[in-house]
Amino acid sequence: MHQLLPTPLEDPDRELADEDLVQAYAYPEAASPSDCWVRANMVASADGAAGLDGRSGGLSGEGDRRVFGVLRGLADAVLVGAGTVRTEEYRPPAAAAQHAAHRRARGQLPAPVLAVVTARAEIDLEHLQPREGSSRPLVLTTTSADARRRAELATLADVVLVGRDRVDLSEALAALAARGLRRLLCEGGPTLLGQVVAGGLLDELCLTTAALLTGSPGPRLLDLDRCVGPVRLRIGHLLVDRDELLARYLVDRG
Ligand SMILES: NC(=O)c1ccc[n+]([C@@H]2O[C@H](COP(=O)([O-])OP(=O)(O)OC[C@H]3O[C@@H](n4cnc5c(N)ncnc54)[C@H](OP(=O)(O)O)[C@@H]3O)[C@@H](O)[C@H]2O)c1
Repeated sequence: MHQLLPTPLEDPDRELADEDLVQAYAYPEAASPSDCWVRANMVASADGAAGLDGRSGGLSGEGDRRVFGVLRGLADAVLVGAGTVRTEEYRPPAAAAQHAAHRRARGQLPAPVLAVVTARAEIDLEHLQPREGSSRPLVLTTTSADARRRAELATLADVVLVGRDRVDLSEALAALAARGLRRLLCEGGPTLLGQVVAGGLLDELCLTTAALLTGSPGPRLLDLDRCVGPVRLRIGHLLVDRDELLARYLVDRG
């Protein structure tokens, strides 16, 4: 993997080590303890599809998987929609030995907290089962979700009620910040990301573009139920790994 932008001052052909990636993707310092930084990490085909045969894995190459791991290593919490949890067979992230020292130094838990956004709380308990060194997950749901389902989920997760029929994402972020979870990594899917964008809550988009046209009409990166207008982005950096382009975009609030 190499850096294309900003143009490296020294050897442009230098292979990036994991330590370089940790620095390149470091979260900014928070202005205050209640300030969350919302980074989304997504992969898309060159024709903008969010999946191949219904999963994102078919779009993802070695470089994307590497950055995916680095970003989890940096995050306090992984925010994800229930649709992705169900289709991509999510479980709470395990603690990874290569991130342990950095996480300790930043005062983070050994593994990021999985925070699942769901209106209906229809999450299979297997998605919340702990793994080696994992943190207790959170389910961010609504007061209208079935009370018995919520009680079942509470056996394995902290269930947080943030909205009546839909999760109010601003409230959800405040609930995460109150738990000291500020460095957020939203792993989609398109419905959740659409709402994060529509709510003006996105700070950064890490986007891998796979060198592939899916040529099929499946979901795109953002699933929006209304027009929210353009959101301007600036390039933070651009990396390349074989044919994959890995961009870090920052939302331009100016
Ligand atoms: N290309 C990529 O990087 C990438 C990343 C992730 C996923 N994907 C793909 O995306 C597809 C899934 O798409 P999706 O749009 O259905 O995924 P999603 O956004 O993960 O899930 C949608 C579900 O999340 C819950 N949800 C989202 N926002 C909510 C809110 N404000 N309040 C309450 N609940 C909320 C709802 O769950 P309930 O139905 O439980 O109420 C909703 O049905 C899969 O094929 C997956 O492979 C691609």
